[in-house]
Amino acid sequence: MHKIAVIPGDGTGPEVVNEGLKVLEAAGKKFNFKYETKTFDFSGERYLKTGKLVEDADVEALKKYNAIFLGAVGHPDVKPGILETNVLLKLRFALDQYINLRPVKLYNSNYCPLKDKKPEDIDFVVVRENSEGLYKGMGEFQNKGTKEEVAIQISYNTRKGVERCLRYAFEFTRKRNKRKKLTLCGKTNVLTYAWDLWERTFKELAEEYPDVTTDYAHVDATTMWFVKNPEWFDVIVTDNMFGDIITDLGAMIQGGMGIAAGGNINPSGVSMFEPIGGSAPKYTGQNVINPLAAICAVGMMLDNLGEEKAAKAVEDAVIKLVSSKLKSLAAGKMGYSTTQVGDLVVENL
Ligand code: IPM
Ligand code: MN
Repeated sequence: MHKIAVIPGDGTGPEVVNEGLKVLEAAGKKFNFKYETKTFDFSGERYLKTGKLVEDADVEALKKYNAIFLGAVGHPDVKPGILETNVLLKLRFALDQYINLRPVKLYNSNYCPLKDKKPEDIDFVVVRENSEGLYKGMGEFQNKGTKEEVAIQISYNTRKGVERCLRYAFEFTRKRNKRKKLTLCGKTNVLTYAWDLWERTFKELAEEYPDVTTDYAHVDATTMWFVKNPEWFDVIVTDNMFGDIITDLGAMIQGGMGIAAGGNINPSGVSMFEPIGGSAPKYTGQNVINPLAAICAVGMMLDNLGEEKAAKAVEDAVIKLVSSKLKSLAAGKMGYSTTQVGDLVVENL
């Protein structure tokens, strides 16, 4: 029995989560697995009403689950930063989900903004460090509010944190078994403390993985290659901030936020799966948002739960849909409503 915690969140989060759960139910029937869900309300709405965010007791409760399925975080009436820090980042950090796994896969060239790129050209995975770096929230103001003000934001990188992320990336590249190429994406030419540690550790670990080809690219160049030669990449490993930035670009070349999913992974604990786009307030409640990213997140969650066949079937059902009926992956332009897209995926299953 898989115990799944569901956090619908804000904006269009609940709508896409419903479609994800619809597909989960169909997959459970088809592949004969049992699961139960419990919904946790960590929304902006609740915060505005009660002042409550994710508390330590909530984290303890979530630790009893096998996986978490999250919709979206972000509410137009809540000051930016509050929900991000106290819901999403709080969960990632407190549950030690130190990997953010973001596949970038083009399912249909019609949805790709790059000229002449085919599905086989865009098929890589970004392994983003998810617990340290600039996201640690370290720093200070000096002389705040004066003309002499200094704002310091520290990138915090520990040997242990860097090593566990790199090791995961090497193991992942090996297991993925495609081109067995791992690219470190950094900025060794300027950020000479953080990226010195990353590069040294990367080279050390590479010795243990002679079957994995290694490569290095600066982050600025990486964004260029994403557009020019995405086919060069197999697995990319990078820090938290660079990973955040390059995966938005990654999402665009795979067809947009409507299809991009990710997993916040704790390899020995509870992991959390989410569509990587935001809460899209302007589309809320209109039944127009694309639920495929959330459905793909369910696919990733099933894989993580050991239901590999079901995971593959969900992905195949999505591929079938985007190769045939769907007009676009963008909200309001799919040719179908949110709920209809969910139904079509279920049909394809
Ligand atoms: C993401 C998001 C988050 C991040 C925000 C909402 C805190 O952009 O998951 O990529 O920066 O990690
Ligand atoms: Mn982001």
